Amino acid sequence: METVTQLLESIKDVGRDAFRGGYTRPVYSTAELDLRGWFVEQAGRRGLEVETDRNGVIWAWWGQPSDGALVTGSHLDSVPGGGAFDGPLGVASALAAVDLLRARGTAPSRPLAITVFPEEEGSRFGVACLGSRLLTGAIDTNKALNLRDADGNTFADVARANGLDPRYMGPDAEALARIGDFVELHVEQGIGLGTDGPGIAVGSSVLGHGRWKLSIHGQGNHAGTTLMADRADPMVAAAQIIVAVRQAAARQPDARATVGRIVPVPGGTNVIPSRVDLWLDARHPDDRVTAHLVEGIHGRAQRVAAEEGCTVTLTEESYSNTVHFDAGLTGRISGLLPHAPVLATGAGHDAGVLAGFVPSAMLFVRNPSGISHSPEEHVADRDADAGAAALADVLAGLL
Ligand code: GLV
Ligand code: MN
Ligand code: MN
Repeated sequence: METVTQLLESIKDVGRDAFRGGYTRPVYSTAELDLRGWFVEQAGRRGLEVETDRNGVIWAWWGQPSDGALVTGSHLDSVPGGGAFDGPLGVASALAAVDLLRARGTAPSRPLAITVFPEEEGSRFGVACLGSRLLTGAIDTNKALNLRDADGNTFADVARANGLDPRYMGPDAEALARIGDFVELHVEQGIGLGTDGPGIAVGSSVLGHGRWKLSIHGQGNHAGTTLMADRADPMVAAAQIIVAVRQAAARQPDARATVGRIVPVPGGTNVIPSRVDLWLDARHPDDRVTAHLVEGIHGRAQRVAAEEGCTVTLTEESYSNTVHFDAGLTGRISGLLPHAPVLATGAGHDAGVLAGFVPSAMLFVRNPSGISHSPEEHVADRDADAGAAALADVLAGLL
């Protein structure tokens, strides 16, 4: 029997990023594969039967795999330079909850599975929750297989190199039928829980969110010989577009918009880029408002680019509607955790994707500063223990 802290301690050196700080564990990197191996080993130690489905989702079964199981789990991949808890906390808590249930003598009356979803962050192939989107059919399979990482590898090639057969990837009705109810425990990514009081919350909804790629095309040229008046510099347009993104979101109540990634091509100190790609992450509870916000940003980007002698193209890479978790399941969980407040989240999750297909719910564990997608993300040991105990209570109550 191990605590969540002990379990996380055993992976604390996997995927550390000396340059960015924190952890960089992109899907199917050495680090993420090591973590998948760690999970399989931990599941095996507990006598759970492990299988990897055709989309690369790992399932560890307590009881015979069958339809209508109670499923809990999260992900092990991270954003670049992420924290230790986003993803692994839910997986480690699920393992610890199984230990607690066994120590309490709970015998499941229906099978229970722990799942690990690949590419939850979308930090390698650009689309978040790729594993759950593929399994449910929430993404077109061909689109998913043709996604490319920064080195130009397709998702199909990387999946193949990791033992999957792209011909069989995509909607998996059998796997979906296995999920009777899905509960994902996750580090809180805001300060909704405060620093005193209950350390666990029940999730109510996931904010609608999407990703768009903006490519600004200009004239690549020499930094020393091109007069300032003669330039069509997409980097200058990009700078103004980034400021415009901030201004547009600030004017729209409840909106969030971020440019977290920018790639100049070819990317040399003494080179005026020929193209700059930047990625917009925009979120709002009302999907129409998000669409309007992005349209406005696109229009402004076109004007700014034209003034610089550049052109711009906008491509939607993914979109997820605002999701409200199943009221019946969430209500039952609140009944099992009467002191836990109910919180909405601005972050995306596999539970949010699954919620469109099966009853799904989430638990959040206190993160005192609310900082996440950063090495500073934190969960105190006692809150991590409380989270695993709460998950065990919830699983016992739902079994
Ligand atoms: C995932 O963590 C997201 O909200 O982008
Ligand atoms: Mn995340
Ligand atoms: Mn996460």
